[in-house]
Amino acid sequence: MKIGIIGSGYVGLVTGVCFAHLGHRVICVDNDVKKIAMLKKNHVPIYEPGLEEMIRENVAAKRLSFTTRISQAVSQSEVLFICVNTPPKENGEADLSFVETVSKEIALHLKEYRLIVEKSTVPVQTGEWVEKTIRNYQPRRALFDVASNPEFLREGSAIQDFLKPDRVIIGVSNSKSEKILRKLYGPLKAPILVTDIKSAEIIKHAANSFLATKISFINMVARICDAVGADVEKVAQGMGLDPRIGPSFLKAGIGFGGFCFPKDLSAFLKRAEKLGVGFELLSSVLAINEQQKQYFVQKIENHLWNLNHKTLAILGLSFKPDTDDMRFAPSIDIIKALEREGVHIRAYDPQAMKKAKSIFPKIEFTANPYAAMKNADALVIVTEWDEFSNLDWKKVKRLLKHPIVFDGRNQLNQAEMKKLGFQYHGIGRPR
Ligand SMILES: NC(=O)c1ccc[n+]([C@@H]2O[C@H](COP(=O)([O-])OP(=O)(O)OC[C@H]3O[C@@H](n4cnc5c(N)ncnc54)[C@H](O)[C@@H]3O)[C@@H](O)[C@H]2O)c1
Repeated sequence: MKIGIIGSGYVGLVTGVCFAHLGHRVICVDNDVKKIAMLKKNHVPIYEPGLEEMIRENVAAKRLSFTTRISQAVSQSEVLFICVNTPPKENGEADLSFVETVSKEIALHLKEYRLIVEKSTVPVQTGEWVEKTIRNYQPRRALFDVASNPEFLREGSAIQDFLKPDRVIIGVSNSKSEKILRKLYGPLKAPILVTDIKSAEIIKHAANSFLATKISFINMVARICDAVGADVEKVAQGMGLDPRIGPSFLKAGIGFGGFCFPKDLSAFLKRAEKLGVGFELLSSVLAINEQQKQYFVQKIENHLWNLNHKTLAILGLSFKPDTDDMRFAPSIDIIKALEREGVHIRAYDPQAMKKAKSIFPKIEFTANPYAAMKNADALVIVTEWDEFSNLDWKKVKRLLKHPIVFDGRNQLNQAEMKKLGFQYHGIGRPR
């Protein structure tokens, strides 16, 4: 099939390249001229494992191309996926202005039947607005349908997630749209759930909010463990063995970040409020998540006393491992709080330092983790990149002024760290 992707960021690029990989002809659009210029030269503007190679292969096979013009995608494609960003407004609502702009532009160029699919994460009833907007701005009457197909990929494993999804959600208003989307996703052999458009929109917000709730829940349990000297890792294991609960998303730490959870939770909460449904549970989940970062900073202060003029080695800046994405990364609030206390920070991240440099103008970035540790008062793990599990701990001990580790992700083996002679402070772990 011929597919147009509008918005070529983390979701759009991965969606485009994966559909091309499945044999479709894909044109990816973005209004960021620099991004498209880079992509045309096979340079990938984001770090996502495997993406660059797949882009190169599919461009060479003439299944994938890039443009800045939506008109080109509308005229060439049977199906158009809207993958633009839906950032949070200051009050927490989703800013849908990019979705509106794209809907208007599609309307202007629509000449024959197209299926327009919202893949961006949007509040319930956005589909109705997309349809109304296209109808209102069409200069000539051409048939079209709107569908919802929320995306569940995770940065860092995005290609695998797209090609081997747990489920594909298709929200449609008629069988024609369903048939087109089934044809597209059929080869993935994943379970396909067909719903109405509004239910599909809610599934995405509800799923992310539920996962975030699990994280905030276990983080509160971790604070209880800290208070009494119990081990949250064991508690989570014991809870997770119950199949009704399951073990995933029960990892205590410094809380969730990234472009999805915080904004999707706020947007769901705000949409619920507008519909007259007070969803206080979600306010608590967000509040706990905010406090958790402060809780970690407080923990550092409790063990190092005055932070002014102390040096900390920070490992990991991206919001999670295997991505360079810094959007809403917990590292931002944590580092800013430490800087306010007068801490000198040396930081290392395997992929995110380029993006982090504009966020933290004052911190010192190092070429490897060890250079960050030299004469530092303590080591702080903020993002659990794999390489931090396998550090040369004897060397780390020699480099640090004091062998103190604050593990914000409970990444390290506490017993081993103690055996090696470190003072180890995790979240909700006995000392
Ligand atoms: N990043 C994720 O892991 C993830 C996962 C699932 C769903 N989502 C959702 O998918 C959507 C996109 O997220 P993302 O992370 O890919 O965002 P992104 O910011 O990386 O990409 C969005 C792209 O859209 C482009 N764009 C904006 N307005 C445009 C316009 N008028 N015309 C053409 N291009 C335009 C931007 O330049 C940008 O490149 C969001 O709604 C997000 O919540 C993201």
